[in-house]
Amino acid sequence: MEHIVSLKDIVVNFDGEQILNHINLDIKDKEFVTLLGPSGCGKTTTLRIIGGFLEPDSGVITFEGKKINGLPAYKRNVNTVFQRYALFPHLNVYENIAFGLHVKKLPEREIRKRVGEMLDLVNLRGYEKRNISRLSGGQQQRVAIARALVNRPKVLLLDEPLGALDLKLRKEMQIELKRIQQSLEITFIYVTHDQEEALTMSDTVVVMNQGNIQQIGTPVDIYNEPENAFVADFIGESNIIPGIMLKDCLVEISGREFVCVDKGFGNNTPVDVVIRPEDITLVPTEDAKLSGVVTSVTFKGVHYEMVVEAYDYQWLIQSTRSAELGSAVGISFGPDDIHIMHKMKG
Ligand SMILES: Nc1ncnc2c1ncn2[C@@H]1O[C@H](COP(=O)(O)OP(=O)(O)O)[C@@H](O)[C@H]1O
Ligand SMILES: [Mg+2]
Repeated sequence: MEHIVSLKDIVVNFDGEQILNHINLDIKDKEFVTLLGPSGCGKTTTLRIIGGFLEPDSGVITFEGKKINGLPAYKRNVNTVFQRYALFPHLNVYENIAFGLHVKKLPEREIRKRVGEMLDLVNLRGYEKRNISRLSGGQQQRVAIARALVNRPKVLLLDEPLGALDLKLRKEMQIELKRIQQSLEITFIYVTHDQEEALTMSDTVVVMNQGNIQQIGTPVDIYNEPENAFVADFIGESNIIPGIMLKDCLVEISGREFVCVDKGFGNNTPVDVVIRPEDITLVPTEDAKLSGVVTSVTFKGVHYEMVVEAYDYQWLIQSTRSAELGSAVGISFGPDDIHIMHKMKG
């Protein structure tokens, strides 16, 4: 069985507004998949459909090849971890994790064994009797993860589970979650609006915007080969400059011709040209086809970030070497640094 979950042509409307616009997505078993996109783009709605908390207006959802439209949440081999952990405040750590197993009326010995395994998995051995309200945010999140995994679901849905944690703890938990997913060998479907989080953790990233999937790919693909300007802009900072694809491997930017590696856009086609700030080098003006004036220089710790105004565009440039504010500089990049994109629809 290749795909554990498939969404086929899923449409959801709320109040006459289309929230999911014909979503197609195949998720492989044991994969770490992340739905990434700005707030309101439909990530949670997609998770709710997979979890069985919402029925689509049309489209098919399959689990291990079988259609599961209409199957209630508790009958799906799927569990969810929410951003607000929804733990039981009057129960201790052990009782919170054991809750679902008690509901299932498993033998006490089995429950003890399974809860113990979960406590080890999330590094909370020794906290069994601790009251939930006396745990840190990170510890509460671990309990929520343990509680969701104790039923041994095949798929775990995680909806911005680290959103409430501070940056340092979030980074630690990202690594923890990845380790847990790999050690249990189950499928994680993870939702975040944080592109760095998505790139760090995922096997596959699904970039969404306004109810549409924009691109599906590995983190490296998504970063290096964004398919349109939305993805390029959302995944890290980019320069997005209008250009004209003159013919295969030749693009015009601000009236100059540049050799690139992209093909298949036809002749004299308007395109968006994406160039990453870290791929640009500042050189003497006489050594570059494009030049401009440095209008801002900011020290960012590892590198400097500079803005160069050239032919009505503001170019963002990152370099370990600073340039002088107000000076004239040349903007240089190679054929491999140029990414040609179709003009975005709409
Ligand atoms: N129950 C609902 N009723 C009406 N509109 C909703 C409902 N749930 C979500 N929406 C709308 O659907 C869109 C997508 O929401 P959601 O899937 O929660 O986005 P995300 O998780 O990506 O931030 C938003 O515009 C939101 O306001
Ligand atoms: Mg959401």
